[in-house]
Amino acid sequence: MSSRIPQDFIDRVIERTDIVDLIDQRVKLKVSGRNYSACCPFHQERTPSFTVSREKQFYYCFGCGASGNAISFLMEYEHQAFIDALRQLATNLGMELPRGEAGEARRQESSPLYAAMEAASLFYRQQLRQHPQRTRAVDYLKQRGLSGDIARDYGLGYAPPGWDHLARQDWSPELKQALIDCGLILPRKSGPGYYDAMRDRIIFPIRDARGRCIALGGRVLNKDDKPKYLNSPESEIFHKGRELYGLYEARQHGKLKRVLVVEGYMDVIALAQYDLRLAVATLGTATSSTHVERLLRQSDELIFCFDGDEAGRRAAWKALQACLSLLQDGKRIAFMFLAQGEDPDSLVRKTGAAGFAQAMEQAQGLADFLFAHQSADLQLQRLEDKAQLAQRMGSLIAQIPASVYRQLIEQRLQEITGIAATAALPAPPAPVADTPQKPRFLRPARRPAASASTALCDKALRLLMLDPQLANKLHPPELDACQLEHWPLLRDVLAMLRRHPHMSTASLLGAWHGSSEGEDLAALAAQEFLLTPSMAAGEIDDIDRALKLADCEYRLKQLTEAIQEQPSRERLQQQLQLRHEIENLRRQRGASH
Ligand code: UTP
Ligand code: MN
Repeated sequence: MSSRIPQDFIDRVIERTDIVDLIDQRVKLKVSGRNYSACCPFHQERTPSFTVSREKQFYYCFGCGASGNAISFLMEYEHQAFIDALRQLATNLGMELPRGEAGEARRQESSPLYAAMEAASLFYRQQLRQHPQRTRAVDYLKQRGLSGDIARDYGLGYAPPGWDHLARQDWSPELKQALIDCGLILPRKSGPGYYDAMRDRIIFPIRDARGRCIALGGRVLNKDDKPKYLNSPESEIFHKGRELYGLYEARQHGKLKRVLVVEGYMDVIALAQYDLRLAVATLGTATSSTHVERLLRQSDELIFCFDGDEAGRRAAWKALQACLSLLQDGKRIAFMFLAQGEDPDSLVRKTGAAGFAQAMEQAQGLADFLFAHQSADLQLQRLEDKAQLAQRMGSLIAQIPASVYRQLIEQRLQEITGIAATAALPAPPAPVADTPQKPRFLRPARRPAASASTALCDKALRLLMLDPQLANKLHPPELDACQLEHWPLLRDVLAMLRRHPHMSTASLLGAWHGSSEGEDLAALAAQEFLLTPSMAAGEIDDIDRALKLADCEYRLKQLTEAIQEQPSRERLQQQLQLRHEIENLRRQRGASH
């Protein structure tokens, strides 16, 4: 996360550098309200979505999500290492790096796991070219219709049969440890030494958005071996719930006009073989809002492609739910259902690129799928069933941010049921304050508004990014056991601010730069461009209470379960106490609204 250079030194450099000057010397900035803007230097665009705040000393692109402080700007723009960017800024200010730390900092700068993954991926690529048994793998890939070019683009490799090809290489002790931490080599169960996790498998490197290898997937060659696919486990650098296989590769061919989300690695690669370089796959997990959010940043059109069977429909419905809170005018989301037994790989082989493209055109729009799914078991000539539909749609529509699209959906519901939709529905979320430059991609609601607590940590984080000093006003209880989304990040930010009470927003962003949490933090901080600061201070006390409340409610739930299993007087007493506390907190919160 950060280097061995003292945080205070980094903070001082950031504080004394003016990010607006720094960027303006490289990318011409224009004044835009309280901020500055330009066409983003990190992706292709015609209207400016790149925004810089002088007040907060950070930048954010509403188009591609690039973000950070002065140091990260230099790192990204001039492809410098952290330590070199820091040195350059310090030199400009007449400051000198603390002695003796630079070398250490260089090693610390990013996780050693990246180097291990890269080394392993390279090793397996070499085996595909050199190993005596390579023909088995090559034949397999050929039989699946893949060319050498595609195998190269996707970095495919081969883990030969045998127990320790990777483990017995002459690795340095650090790299070996990192390979262990990546889960690519495992300690033998009997006796000393290590063995390979991947054996006799085709290897697919899984890359992050910057092209760094963060995990490996391995597919068996024989159709009867199990498991068919083996992924290296989650690690410090690999969180499968947010990564998308093939996104980096697809982006190598220019801006993505549309993105196709498929289920398998081989689907992504087969489509690329037909020059349809637009597919990405989740890594054996359901589609999450994080996935959708990332993809909508890349492209205006998103098509989900699922099998035509029951499991496919269920997966599609999950994906739709992940989309609702992220819908916005100007973006299109559609669903494509394949015939039973077909996957994108088999379909594109059968119909060719043109046939597949035509099938994509026929994808069902999100609204159509929404209505079809919700009324599949209803007979809409019946009054009861109309009421049922209105009821079901209510909570779903409530998750959609205010937009023309939402109005059209409400109108359609009204046409079907004959009820004025808005009357039956919960109030729409508050509209987002307008901005002077109207970024192309607003992100008004990051998470489904299903329950107030889903967004609680995000709200707290946004306020902290607006004013880190507000950390003094948050006294979160031991929420560790609680399942609030983004709680671990909030906990870490608060801990950081306790250690360094004077850290600025820009420094905080720097500390998390390059990690997936850093992206979330930057997106939250960027809401500053959309909201006015006066909204901040008043909210923090309520958030403090809401955090306490969430904790109490969670503890109550646990306790109630424990009581059902084994009641005791002590537990019942605790339960009563918790109920009181919850009621109190609710009353206090109610009074302040
Ligand atoms: P599929 O079984 O549909 O495989 O799994 P596929 O992509 O069509 O593979 P081929 O064509 O037989 O080679 C879809 C995805 O589910 C995950 C993988 O991410 C795979 O790409 N999966 C599947 C696993 O993680 N483990 C498994 O054992 C099977
Ligand atoms: Mn397949």
